[in-house]
Amino acid sequence: MLKIAVVGAGHWGPNLIGNFHDHTRSEVAWVIDRSEDRLAAVRTRFPDIQTGTEARLAFEDPAVDAVAIATPTATHHELTLAALRSGKHVLVEKPLAETVEKAEEMHAVAQEVGRILMVGHVFVYNAAAQLAKQYITNQELGRVYYISMVRTNLGPIRVDVNAAFDLAAHDISLASFWLDATPISVTATGGSWINRGIEDAVFATIRYPNDVLVNLHASWLNPIKTRDIRVVGDKRMLTFDDVNTGEPLRIYDKQVDEQTAQVPFVDSFASFRMTVREGDIVVPRVPMSQPLKQECDHFLDCVENGETPMSGGPEGISVVRTLDAISRSMADRGREALVGG
Ligand SMILES: NC(=O)c1ccc[n+]([C@@H]2O[C@H](COP(=O)([O-])OP(=O)(O)OC[C@H]3O[C@@H](n4cnc5c(N)ncnc54)[C@H](O)[C@@H]3O)[C@@H](O)[C@H]2O)c1
Repeated sequence: MLKIAVVGAGHWGPNLIGNFHDHTRSEVAWVIDRSEDRLAAVRTRFPDIQTGTEARLAFEDPAVDAVAIATPTATHHELTLAALRSGKHVLVEKPLAETVEKAEEMHAVAQEVGRILMVGHVFVYNAAAQLAKQYITNQELGRVYYISMVRTNLGPIRVDVNAAFDLAAHDISLASFWLDATPISVTATGGSWINRGIEDAVFATIRYPNDVLVNLHASWLNPIKTRDIRVVGDKRMLTFDDVNTGEPLRIYDKQVDEQTAQVPFVDSFASFRMTVREGDIVVPRVPMSQPLKQECDHFLDCVENGETPMSGGPEGISVVRTLDAISRSMADRGREALVGG
């Protein structure tokens, strides 16, 4: 049984506590949170878990093998470095850090001390997203033209990072996973109304290799919770909505074809050459599984067997570099910013 300490028991942390607590291969040795109220809530649900307000209590405990960090983004760097330097493996929530330099240092230290560093890019552990990747990789959509991703809700409003860092981190990790590529450049605009300088809504277009565009709308200032992802290929199109747990994926047999037969009348050269085909819509069966459980399973596999995480330091850094480019482009009134530039 691996002994896990969970740091951060706010909105998301209890999901990690539950997963590692109920797991057959792990137990939760510590839950750490600065807030006594949060700890009291944890003790009510999990009376067998030790709690404390200082992360060092868990980091200095030799019985602890690994640490899961679910605190605000601005604290990830300091807590992760302290855990790694205490010899613990680390699963840290997305995004890895709020700056590229910090993200790179976290990966470098993990390498140096020979411990696992995994980032909670939970969508790459989602069974429907993994099935969608198969459609894309097997060329069943043909050549991918573009992906549009809308992730909106009313709250939670962050004060340490903007809506892109908070929400679009998921979409960037997913797009890179699907396309098996890293972004080249970004153009973005955003608006900050609630807290000065922290964008509540971000509209960004990311350019990937092979002329693939990924368009993002991330906002915590929106009346409707939307998770609307569309992948447009030249043979087929795909939609993914993880809120629709029963039928998250749809494959549309729709495309624009080259016209071969002669038509009697055309009003433009484009309509002469192109015709729209509307075929079947397939709703593939997605195996039932919990993405966060898959993520925790994978983390335990990596710790036990030294496997390389699917969402490790390099993937975490790539997402942070893209988020950094989004921030630079927004600050420059939408001018194109190179990722990593
Ligand atoms: N994977 C997902 O789908 C998902 C969903 C929500 C949040 N998250 C991520 O989880 C992290 C936490 O988000 P949240 O919504 O739970 O935030 P939150 O504000 O609800 O909770 C954070 C908790 O961390 C505690 N904390 C802050 N600094 C601390 C420190 N130095 N030591 C110990 N405890 C500390 C706070 O008291 C609070 O209880 C963020 O990185 C966020 O991006 C991921």
